[in-house]
Amino acid sequence: MRDQAEKLRQLIMDSKTGSNKSHDKDSVKSKTRVLAVTSGKGGVGKTNFSINIGISLCNLGYKVVIFDADIGFANIDVILGVVPKYTIADILDGSKDILDILTEGPNGIKLIAGGSGIQTLFNIDKQKLDVLIHQLQKLENYADFIIIDTGAGLSNTVLNFVNASDEVILITTPEPTALTDVYAMIKTLKANREHDILNVVINKARDSVEANEVFSRLSKVSNKFLNIKIENLGYVNDSKLVMQSVKNQDPFILSYPNSTIAKNINEIALRISGSKQATKKEFGISNFVRKFKSLLMKEDT
Ligand SMILES: Nc1ncnc2c1ncn2[C@@H]1O[C@H](COP(=O)(O)OP(=O)(O)OP(=O)(O)O)[C@@H](O)[C@H]1O
Ligand SMILES: [Mg+2]
Repeated sequence: MRDQAEKLRQLIMDSKTGSNKSHDKDSVKSKTRVLAVTSGKGGVGKTNFSINIGISLCNLGYKVVIFDADIGFANIDVILGVVPKYTIADILDGSKDILDILTEGPNGIKLIAGGSGIQTLFNIDKQKLDVLIHQLQKLENYADFIIIDTGAGLSNTVLNFVNASDEVILITTPEPTALTDVYAMIKTLKANREHDILNVVINKARDSVEANEVFSRLSKVSNKFLNIKIENLGYVNDSKLVMQSVKNQDPFILSYPNSTIAKNINEIALRISGSKQATKKEFGISNFVRKFKSLLMKEDT
């Protein structure tokens, strides 16, 4: 852990002084990683996690786009403290380019606001779907990471985003209700992602002991009854600072950079940045849009 923290500090220092060359334009461009952040139960911390992990990855020198794909409760803009001018609806009606609808957030993070456009996405005709796919492809040369905040539960909307994404991050809290719901989610995802690793983050943990215990229990039942391996991506402590930062519309990674929860997030960002899934053959936006299209077409029939 200590080594990781040191490495992170160094990386952050390097990126601030401009000496971090590993992700700049001249280096070999790797494909965009599409991460879906999801949960079984609502209100477990997906949106706060997505925003803060996104900014932490920005601090490591990556270009990050965060996509607010929660139909009912799209609120990333509020927590980020930005006011989006456009939403995904503006690309669906052909009036805007995807790069024009990105809202600039702190530390270089960019937001795609879903808004009412997300609903339209799932009643989309073939022509509009092609427009969307063409536009999304443009992000391949633009972003290192796209983080999709999907909303909670087992609706088709959530599952389509999750199943089209290369990587999944499941958020749960130690509460039994959150755990049974995340287990149900894992069970549902298994059908589509048999060979994939599902990443889990324990949010609102009392401490690392509780987080590891909770993860270990979830891992055992997933292994035993579903024959699926889940990966421990880390944990975030339960902290009043989260609510405080939401009230201030200033993500905690920025307003409380030395807090335990900021350290928790930075450790997870490092783990994501170094994870093996980055070397998977089939990923990137093209893979995402191909799967997304086939999922939507399947629903149509
Ligand atoms: N680590 C934490 N410690 C304490 N409170 C937290 C933590 N993470 C999130 N919260 C609180 O939990 C509530 C829900 O957080 P958030 O909106 O991020 O969850 P969500 O999973 O996106 O919810 P929804 O399913 O409604 O989209 C907020 O009030 C937030 O302040
Ligand atoms: Mg949310």
